[in-house]
Amino acid sequence: MRLYAPLSFAVLALTAFTAAAQTAPKPSASNAHPVKTRATASPIIAPTPPMGWNSWNFFAGKVTDKDIRAAADQIVATGMKDAGYIYVNIDDTWEGQRDADGVLHTNDKFPDMKALADYVHSKGLKLGIYSGPGSKTCAGFAASLDHEVQDAQLYASWGIDYLKYDLCSFRKDVMAAKAPDDKAEQMRLMVAAYDKMGNALKESGRPIVYSLCQYGWDAPWEWAPALGGNLWRTTDDVKANWMSIYDIVNQNAGLAKYAGPGHWNDPDMLEVGNGRLTLAENRSHFSMWAMLAAPLLAGNDLPNMKPEIKAILTNKAVIAIDQDKLGREGTRAYADGEVEVWTRRLAGGATAIAVLNVGSDRVASHPFHLSLAKLGLKGPDKGKDLWTGQEVTLTDNQPIELASHDILLVRIDAPK
Ligand code: GLA
Repeated sequence: MRLYAPLSFAVLALTAFTAAAQTAPKPSASNAHPVKTRATASPIIAPTPPMGWNSWNFFAGKVTDKDIRAAADQIVATGMKDAGYIYVNIDDTWEGQRDADGVLHTNDKFPDMKALADYVHSKGLKLGIYSGPGSKTCAGFAASLDHEVQDAQLYASWGIDYLKYDLCSFRKDVMAAKAPDDKAEQMRLMVAAYDKMGNALKESGRPIVYSLCQYGWDAPWEWAPALGGNLWRTTDDVKANWMSIYDIVNQNAGLAKYAGPGHWNDPDMLEVGNGRLTLAENRSHFSMWAMLAAPLLAGNDLPNMKPEIKAILTNKAVIAIDQDKLGREGTRAYADGEVEVWTRRLAGGATAIAVLNVGSDRVASHPFHLSLAKLGLKGPDKGKDLWTGQEVTLTDNQPIELASHDILLVRIDAPK
């Protein structure tokens, strides 16, 4: 649920020509924030993009302690844990009231957060939680304004491993209230608020992944790493439909240089298995998040997950692209008609190539021809199709057929 509209982003255009012409969100002019650079804690938090599951996309405000325990059980039982999904993240609506000392309590849906953390940890998993710099969360529950240090210490005492910190009412409570007509000052206040919680987490003494959620306002990729941010949302909320997913992919083109070990662009949580996404759309969504070195936070109904959805979420070869230790996010190499070609450099000289049909027609009658030359490759290049598992050889100008919204994802090994 979003109670406030974000700053405007480019209207979605589904033709690749338009897509290619659209540029990534522009860093804003007000980015000269006086933020000190913090020495990176050792060992580095989130050396690869965090993987796990978050309650919001499926449960929204209904999530309970029982659902979180069931999700943890399922992450183990389905093999997701073995595939790398470690964080079990409670999103909004766990919060109760503050007592006379300002200590925040959980609401009735979460009777004992410490016991829940112990349970999740007993499965070899980690527990995440949610708050924000304003007085209220997006769903109207208590947030951390003026209680940052106290809340960070509370999370640490519970054994929390991950915090998603969502702007929400801070816009009204502080930005609009203190600087109604001064956008630059509003942004400074926002950055200072994220810095405050970054410090509070650091001083809590517990390694806690710090996830900034302020919808890409004021180019967080430029200032969030210096605040100890391990990931920052780049866009407004994802929805379980192709328009939303492709729009987010498009908006992330151009941000690759800001990502790296410990600090990642976050195109939002996964919708794989939600809504009416087709199998091709689920595959493309997951593949493109891997190309974008995105956090892989599943958001589906784990106890009722269909086998084909489990197969997508646990495809280890695709996950290996996402988790590649070089940490170089992929980029859009070129677009041709309604087909986009993205590449990602991988450790050891390997390359991932994604060919994505963003259009609503099958690309068949006028097959798309892949230009290896445009990717700096000569061909023939041997590799593996990561969805069929088959060995493939790519040659220059090779025709490729793709169903609507489907993807070819190939890993090319380093030349011998
Ligand atoms: C915002 C965030 C979402 C979710 C909701 C919870 O909309 O962007 O990811 O956390 O708040 O209220």
